[in-house]
Amino acid sequence: MSEYCNVCGCELTEQNKYMNNMCWDCKYGGHDEVEYLKQERDWTGNSKSTFVTLGASNHVEHDRAENDFYSTDPKALRIFLDKIEKDGDIKLAEHIWECACGNGALSKVLIANNYKVCSTDLIDRGFGLSGVNFLECQHLPDENECYEWDILTNPPFSKSLQFVEKALELVENGRYVIMFLKIQFLETKARKKLFEKYPPKFIYVNSERQLCYPNGDETKKISSATCYCWYIWEKGFNGEPIIRWI
Ligand SMILES: C[S@@+](CC[C@H](N)C(=O)[O-])C[C@H]1O[C@@H](n2cnc3c(N)ncnc32)[C@H](O)[C@@H]1O
Repeated sequence: MSEYCNVCGCELTEQNKYMNNMCWDCKYGGHDEVEYLKQERDWTGNSKSTFVTLGASNHVEHDRAENDFYSTDPKALRIFLDKIEKDGDIKLAEHIWECACGNGALSKVLIANNYKVCSTDLIDRGFGLSGVNFLECQHLPDENECYEWDILTNPPFSKSLQFVEKALELVENGRYVIMFLKIQFLETKARKKLFEKYPPKFIYVNSERQLCYPNGDETKKISSATCYCWYIWEKGFNGEPIIRWI
């Protein structure tokens, strides 16, 4: 039976398997920089100096931010909101659920743009409502109200597929699920199945690299080697995705 990487979803083979449920690429925090790193790893697989040289992602296992906490540079959302306003085809609902809010980096931008935001997270990071496992949520925050809700977040990467599926399950038809994800989210067999079932309506690719901060520590910028995109699903959409560049 095939085995898949829990982080990126790729099929594990003799060549790419690092350990049960993880490929070598994800061991090194991404698929961009792996070709360099494979050549330099020691028996533990560690080779931090190469990350430093590349200025690239350095979330080797022992360094991974707690519960995948990387706060998004607010600028990434600001320029996305400006762009969709200019393009004019996406009209977000007044109410938005930031369902993995971290320290509120994205929520604060949404609030500043006059959205009514429900902010939740599994972990207490000093913002929003903590102890909420999004993957176990059964309904939108307004169970008894009739507001329209969209969901927007940068989810924990290791659970990003589950987050997208859960969000699409929860929102109403015609509403948006907007996720800030690596461009590599487009890859892998497991995610191909998702895209076939639920094609995103738009993908906005950041032509400039956007930053995320491990554990919300803005002095440690790590994502300079990672291209992030905004993936926008409109529930019920079944056409061909449109790709745009910011
Ligand atoms: C990549 S960080 C992004 C934080 C925030 N969305 C931002 O963009 O700055 C992912 C967040 O997901 C939270 N998280 C992890 N698993 C979760 C779960 N099952 N339910 C809700 N939040 C979760 C982590 O605690 C972390 O704060």
